Amino acid sequence: MATIESILRENRVFPPAGEFVRHANIAGIKTYKELCQEAEHDYTGFWAKLAKQYITWHKPFTRILDDTNPPFYKWFDDGELNISWNCLDRHLATQADKTAIIFESDEGKVNHCSYRELHRQVCRFANGLKSLGIRQGDRVVIYMPMRIEAVVAMQACARIGAIHSVVFGGFSAKSVYERIIDAEASAVITADEQTRGGKCHALKATVDKALAMSDTTSVHSVVVFQHTGTDIAWQPERDHWWHDLTARQSDECEPTWINAEHPLFTLYTSGSTGKPKGVQHSSAGYLLGTITSMQWVFDYHADDVFWCTADVGWVTGHSYVTYGPLAIGATQVIFEGIPTYPDAGRFWKIIQKHKVTIFYTAPTAIRSLIKLGPDLPEKYDLSSLRLLGSVGEPINPEAWMWYFTVVGQSRCPVVDTWWQTETGSHIIAPVPGAISTKPGSCTLPLPGIDAAAIDETGQPVKEGKGGFLVIKRPFPSMLRTLWNDPARFKQTYFPADIAGGRYYVAGDSAHRDRDGYFWIMGRIDDVLNVSGHRLGTMEIESALVAHPLVAEAAVVGKPHEIKGEAVVAFVTLREKSPDDQRAAEIAATLREWVAGEIGAIARPEEIRFGENLPKTRSGKIMRRLLRALARGETITQDVSTLENPIILEQLSQTV
Ligand code: PRX
Repeated sequence: MATIESILRENRVFPPAGEFVRHANIAGIKTYKELCQEAEHDYTGFWAKLAKQYITWHKPFTRILDDTNPPFYKWFDDGELNISWNCLDRHLATQADKTAIIFESDEGKVNHCSYRELHRQVCRFANGLKSLGIRQGDRVVIYMPMRIEAVVAMQACARIGAIHSVVFGGFSAKSVYERIIDAEASAVITADEQTRGGKCHALKATVDKALAMSDTTSVHSVVVFQHTGTDIAWQPERDHWWHDLTARQSDECEPTWINAEHPLFTLYTSGSTGKPKGVQHSSAGYLLGTITSMQWVFDYHADDVFWCTADVGWVTGHSYVTYGPLAIGATQVIFEGIPTYPDAGRFWKIIQKHKVTIFYTAPTAIRSLIKLGPDLPEKYDLSSLRLLGSVGEPINPEAWMWYFTVVGQSRCPVVDTWWQTETGSHIIAPVPGAISTKPGSCTLPLPGIDAAAIDETGQPVKEGKGGFLVIKRPFPSMLRTLWNDPARFKQTYFPADIAGGRYYVAGDSAHRDRDGYFWIMGRIDDVLNVSGHRLGTMEIESALVAHPLVAEAAVVGKPHEIKGEAVVAFVTLREKSPDDQRAAEIAATLREWVAGEIGAIARPEEIRFGENLPKTRSGKIMRRLLRALARGETITQDVSTLENPIILEQLSQTV
């Protein structure tokens, strides 16, 4: 690891503009440094002060951090609160009529929902869930379109202390099924269909299929939001229409006061081995991270119009759609559709129409919009914008520069935010009124975050050398464990072979420059980042070998102009040497198969067939070699240990 050379050299620096600094929540580098010093001086006191300032407690905490059983840390663990109350009720006295959500549908219909109205909807739905027998601690799977109702469903769970697990609407029945089983969910909340880019996609039918995969299931209720009105199959004893369930409910629902450490949600994410991991978050610590980052990184002000384009199926949509913006009392845009429908000007049009001030999206979207219409932003009035954010993968400096100059008209700071499903909120990101930005770097850790790039022994790596990105101290918004699998939690995130298991190991490599800025170099495990989303190579391989035609499969990533990384699959078939036409047919079948097993996002871009896969004589698949083949690089690796060198020729050809 320590010998990895970083090759990226980027020398452009953009200091915060004076005008921005004047109004910033953290104004100037001195203020930022003072906060960092405060955290260093009294780490737990620093977080306790913020927890008192930003969270309204039902019962105040007296204990701050319990670190007696590492790595199972607890924060504020004798305090009680309710997350939905913090996101809704506490704003009613001061700003009940403020717009909480500006919703724009796929076809462009707009609906403004005030805090009062959102509170009403959440209470009614929470009462509906209770009437189905859903109680504190029960798990509820949410498989919804990107609409206000998705937020209502999540907030309603939080209100009654049920633990939600949102499954991205693009995932397949099999993925839904696996998550239901792992979570032992009592209920599923879904819609008849979702509409994106002018097309309808089934949701309820997918849930039906998922629930039919096993004879016994823990799911006793399925709640269905009627969106498109299409015909759907119905099981009267199990299925309930959202509108029927909420019709006779009260507009008030006393929140269930829960312990600070009560799980708020689990969210499944890919790892290098085995099934997806159910990342489990706490309530208070998680909420605190979303609020402090709204203040520090997004520099939130009361008159902002905030727009995070992420789907609630991903962690970004949890922290910066459902929780952070509401907890802080913001007005936010929620958009159902896609950036390119009806044309590649859609994002810019929405910013213009709703006077968005803070815009947060992913590099993959930025790259595709550059490709489709580099000059399109100039056709819209984007003068409302004051801050731009990026998340999900490293943003390449050229995309960063376009975002900064064309979208932000060189006026808006770009905050490149590094964090993960597991960290719950931003970890390394520029505080825009204090930190100069450099295109491609997520810059410096937030106050209270002790991040480092280290070697196996725990020593910081030298400037410019890659190391393991670690966080040395427990922080409030970090995951608490993996659902039902504490051993895997410990092994994955606090591995004994890196610094003796003392630190949280993120699974990314990073190097630091002479200013201490972090530059993320990518994953160190077998995880691909396709369009900003983590996919385990192992999951795609398992899906491929589950097909009767496939004997063996290995999956690697290759750089992709828009998606960041694309999936390349190397496959050995059960049948001998199919001709070109047959091979093309099989490749098409397998692509669809993977999409069906996992979801369209995992569909291989390329499939290559060989009589077998390159293995060492001890039987290990040579992944580094496959990566080189996928990238079309010349093989410099020693292949003398290869069992059957002939196949290199076969595998360098795409079907
Ligand atoms: O590899 C890093 C990359 O995305 C991973 C986290 O993925 P996920 O849990 O799906 O969460 C995505 C949204 C937070 C990280 O381990 N990543 C995320 N943000 C950045 C990034 N890589 C570089 N720069 C970023 N800003």
